[in-house]
Amino acid sequence: MQATKQTAPASRGQGIAIRLIDKIGLIDDHWQPRVVAEMNDYQFKVVKLKGDFIWHTHADTDETFIVLDGELRIDLRDGAIVLRAGEMAVVPRGVEHKPFAADEVKLLLIEPRGVANTGEEGGERTVQNDIWI
Ligand code: NI
Repeated sequence: MQATKQTAPASRGQGIAIRLIDKIGLIDDHWQPRVVAEMNDYQFKVVKLKGDFIWHTHADTDETFIVLDGELRIDLRDGAIVLRAGEMAVVPRGVEHKPFAADEVKLLLIEPRGVANTGEEGGERTVQNDIWI
């Protein structure tokens, strides 16, 4: 049973040390982002990915990827960004992108509260975006 919550804890993850890798260890499945803290209206989400995702855009927000472990490739229509542990990238709003991980990758996402993982695309890969861990 995952230690997940549908609502934010009173602390919103603030004022404490958060061990990101330990948090990811509590997640059962790939492609299931979990919120660990908030800063103003932004959320920090941990997630583990493996395999391919769908092409999507976020019309209203940039999206930050920080790789903690493994290697992430963010495909863009005119190329790709490859990130390894300790590296980050910001995908600008409105830019179509598709995350891909040949092997499992663990990362931290930073984006405003309420952003869907599939952006404007929707569909079966969309998951609830406000589950805390
Ligand atoms: Ni995205």
